[in-house]
Amino acid sequence: MHWPKGVDGLSYGGDYNPEQWPEETWDDDVMLMREAGVNLVSVGVFSWARLEPRPGEYDFGWLDTVLGKLHDGGIGVNLATPTASPPPWFTLAHPDALNTRPDGVRQVHGSRDTYDVCAPAYREASRTIAAKLAERYGDHPALAMWHVHNEYGSATYSAHAERAFRVWLQAKYETLDALNDAWWGSFWSQHYSEWDQVLAPRATQYLHNPAHELDFKRFTSDAMLEHYKEQRDLLRAASPDVPITTNFVFGQWVPVDHWKWASEVDLVAFDSYPSAPDERAEQQSALHADLSRSWAGGGDWLLMEQAAASVHSHDGAIAKAPGRMARHSMIHISRGSKGAMFFQWRAGRGGAEQWHSALLPHAGKNTRMFREVAEFGNTLPGIAHTVADPVETDVAILWSPDSWWATAGKHLPAPIDYLENVAQIHRVLRDRGVVADFVAPEGDLSKYTTVIAPTTYVLSRAGAENLRWFTAGGGRLVASYLTGAVDEHCQVWLDGYLGGMTDLFGIRVTEHLPQPAGEPRALWNFGAAERFCELVELRGAQCVTQYASGDVIENQPAVTVNPFGEGEAWYVSCKLVDEAWDRLFEELKLSGPGRPGLDVVDRGPWRFIVNHTEKEEQVGNVIVPAGSWAVDKKQP
Ligand code: GLA
Repeated sequence: MHWPKGVDGLSYGGDYNPEQWPEETWDDDVMLMREAGVNLVSVGVFSWARLEPRPGEYDFGWLDTVLGKLHDGGIGVNLATPTASPPPWFTLAHPDALNTRPDGVRQVHGSRDTYDVCAPAYREASRTIAAKLAERYGDHPALAMWHVHNEYGSATYSAHAERAFRVWLQAKYETLDALNDAWWGSFWSQHYSEWDQVLAPRATQYLHNPAHELDFKRFTSDAMLEHYKEQRDLLRAASPDVPITTNFVFGQWVPVDHWKWASEVDLVAFDSYPSAPDERAEQQSALHADLSRSWAGGGDWLLMEQAAASVHSHDGAIAKAPGRMARHSMIHISRGSKGAMFFQWRAGRGGAEQWHSALLPHAGKNTRMFREVAEFGNTLPGIAHTVADPVETDVAILWSPDSWWATAGKHLPAPIDYLENVAQIHRVLRDRGVVADFVAPEGDLSKYTTVIAPTTYVLSRAGAENLRWFTAGGGRLVASYLTGAVDEHCQVWLDGYLGGMTDLFGIRVTEHLPQPAGEPRALWNFGAAERFCELVELRGAQCVTQYASGDVIENQPAVTVNPFGEGEAWYVSCKLVDEAWDRLFEELKLSGPGRPGLDVVDRGPWRFIVNHTEKEEQVGNVIVPAGSWAVDKKQP
């Protein structure tokens, strides 16, 4: 991974939108940035209409001035291409370049992210504006990094997308017979006899074909990646030494395979917006950080955005208590981010995000928030030397975008919350002090002793082989219910599911038994299961615990373990509650120096401690005040 050019140590700053403010504020901005310890700002993210007010008519004057002032102030620029929000003149001239929703409605401008990544006119306009920026600023001394687009995530179901989808499918399957086989086309008369008959999965009368939907997600990720790469290559040609990235966003609506994208960016950048106000915000922040580090191959990455003063949840925003902004930042920094960036520098006066928090609030610098921002920013140079060593762990959790996308289907044996199942393993491990990496089912497992596969519903042949190799070589594999239920084409793995690895687990899964909500099933001496159980037939595995009650499952195996090669394969045939996973991890002796409410991460000689509790905590000889954090030398 590369690092923003000229930015020493940890990056601190955020999105800066000078084009929304009169020029008189710009000097003030730079002065206050310096006061706050800001050394990197993302400029121009949504500025296309100001850069190109009319087709082919450019106005770079304001940006020249801003970049000059930032450079004079010693602040690096993460310069964005503005393609996430095409100007109104563009969309009126090219209505087909607006994205089409699954219900067939084409959206209109007036918000943002309204573009059709498959529309030729949009692709061309994106290349043109990126090339203009590259030409003008490619060797600007303020340029620290290029930021392509913003949060790729807008899917489109247009005729353009449909055409590109068919080309993608032809490259993948080569023949229609292969496509029909992969998609199980004989069901409901979905057999295609011409490529042109294949549509984007728009609104249909009833359920979609799951294989069709999954391929469309993969296609959309690839189509957006092409859009990114076109811009990246233009920028690279103009400034070979400047790293190029785009900011990843996270959510089930986002059709982006981050494993694949990570190898196309010079630095993994992630926007972390926890969606719950309570301690789940810290759990989610740690999850985001561990995912980002893993996408970055275990190396440095950058927290590109977070909110300074509030946490958003479904019922509105909740103010962050004093110190929480710093603690969230330290969760990320301790877990591999080389800095803490925010949306945004100065709170907006108008526009849809005028109430979004910022480093510099509406009320200006004489505020509690700005004082906290400046205090934290000025602390960071003092700890920059502590992040040189990698975060080390020998425990990994599988992260499978295919499984996340496929479990959004409405046709499953029971509703599955894939993200929650992954997050549950991550939070129970975190409460036990274990920092985990994430890895793709087909990824490199060689550095891990334990790999956990939470409901890895889609398991490809290659993924199954990888897990087999890992276990045979001495690894400990722990898989939970519905893992390997279907293959990469969403076709069921016959004769016992488990990705065909019934010999590895020493069991067959013979039946799915969804349970009523609110009626947990007790397991002997092992807590309980909720909502989902499976009937398991032992084929050599040992039973670790059984279901204590239930129509078909009473006394049947709930958790099993099977020696395989040099390793062992554990299987959890139900959705365990947190306490039961904790009990299992106790049995597996997975624990570390942290505890609930206390993040502890070791990196080389340094120990990072973030105390989210309301009382003073001690770890080794280090005392950390309530709601605070510390970095100290690890005790021998
Ligand atoms: C995203 C975007 C920003 C801003 C923030 C608000 O991360 O990238 O432009 O809209 O959300 O939380």
